[in-house]
Amino acid sequence: MVTRIVSKNFDIPNSHKLEVALANGRYSSIDKLFTMKPEEVTAEVTKSGLRGKGGGGAACGPKWELMPPVDERPRYLIVNGDESEPGTFKDRQIFQYDPHILIEGIICTCWAIQANHAYIYIRGEYKFFIDRLNEAIQEAYKAKIIGDKIMDKYDFKVDITVHRGGGAYICGEKSALIESLEGKRGHPRLKPHGKECEWFYGDPATVNNVETISSVPNIVENGAEGYTKYGTEKSPGTMLFAISGPVKNPGVYEMEYGNKMIDFLNILGGGMIEGKKLKAIIPGGTSCPILTADEVERAVLDYESMWDIGSTLGTGGMIVIDESASMVDVAKNIIEFYHHESCGQCTPCREGCGWIDKILRDVLDGKATSDDLQTILDVCDTMNGKTVCVFAPAVKDIIASIVIKFRSEFEEYFKK
Ligand SMILES: Cc1cc2nc3c(=O)[nH]c(=O)nc-3n(C[C@H](O)[C@H](O)[C@H](O)COP(=O)(O)O)c2cc1C
Repeated sequence: MVTRIVSKNFDIPNSHKLEVALANGRYSSIDKLFTMKPEEVTAEVTKSGLRGKGGGGAACGPKWELMPPVDERPRYLIVNGDESEPGTFKDRQIFQYDPHILIEGIICTCWAIQANHAYIYIRGEYKFFIDRLNEAIQEAYKAKIIGDKIMDKYDFKVDITVHRGGGAYICGEKSALIESLEGKRGHPRLKPHGKECEWFYGDPATVNNVETISSVPNIVENGAEGYTKYGTEKSPGTMLFAISGPVKNPGVYEMEYGNKMIDFLNILGGGMIEGKKLKAIIPGGTSCPILTADEVERAVLDYESMWDIGSTLGTGGMIVIDESASMVDVAKNIIEFYHHESCGQCTPCREGCGWIDKILRDVLDGKATSDDLQTILDVCDTMNGKTVCVFAPAVKDIIASIVIKFRSEFEEYFKK
């Protein structure tokens, strides 16, 4: 069930060290990379159907095509390693076990979009991973893999800077991330009307997730066909899926898209731990609508199938919930996180998160009535599609789905 492309070297002892990485195929895409024109690399990535792994699943190649033609302005690649979504812990595996696949992916992507500087934005608390990453970058500079030339022979400059974020979930949202990188408060920017690249200090930039960038060397080396032989037609390739909660083998497993969620739970996840019965799964970090145990039986792990079943694949980080958990507690736990993390820029989000948090407190204290459940759904409605970024719609997705699918558990509290 496991298909290793990005995680190929994860189990090799000292896989994070340059020497071991080189002995196990890292940087082997670079010679081929420089036989290709930048636009050919982008075209190959577009053909591969590689989709962003940061949550939205946007096609990667077409996004690179939004970069304007090269001119005198600097151009940037920004790698999103903020990874603050509850239930999501896959990018950290790359930092820990194969930081060189990320550096290799950065070289490939910088060549494709003709950027000479990449920033890796990583959550400041992840000290261990930051140290690992910095160590690998220093090794790569010392070995002249990056810097003024690539691999000490290709006349193309790539510098990499690691930037530690202050520890705010919203700074994973790409435009808030750029604001933060520019030294400002991490507030998301208004979206442009049409499609365009991102702008960093007014210069063109592309933002991609750590895993997305780490998937690129394989596509360069083996071509689009090497990637599309895995996965489904519309969700080609693989993804680092994570599973946490009361399962026997929680962890991160790379699989091709298209496997059944229940098989993932039972085979790689090892099934529920003794005495626990599955109640629900939040499929891709807490920002996705929850699935009941019945829905889990039908769910297939690709973007289209997950939309068909009324949820999303998100970051592929599955949170398993068992029958002994109260869904009111689950909803309260989740809303406390969002209430704390709302950046406060948009009123529906700032006020809505706090309002739902307060009502759920009242439910737990036995002070709420069934009218209050309707108020939660009304507040969710007010938060949907009326804010600068999709933080508030994501809150609506998870909270409304819990209230609607597990309403009877909330009603139990009104009888007390
Ligand atoms: C509140 C919020 C938090 C996000 N956090 C992350 C994150 O930690 N890492 C990430 O790659 N994308 C995150 N995203 C998605 C980014 O905005 C962006 O779509 C992504 O980095 C693009 O990369 P990709 O196309 O390679 O997935 C977040 C989005 C929102 C709305």
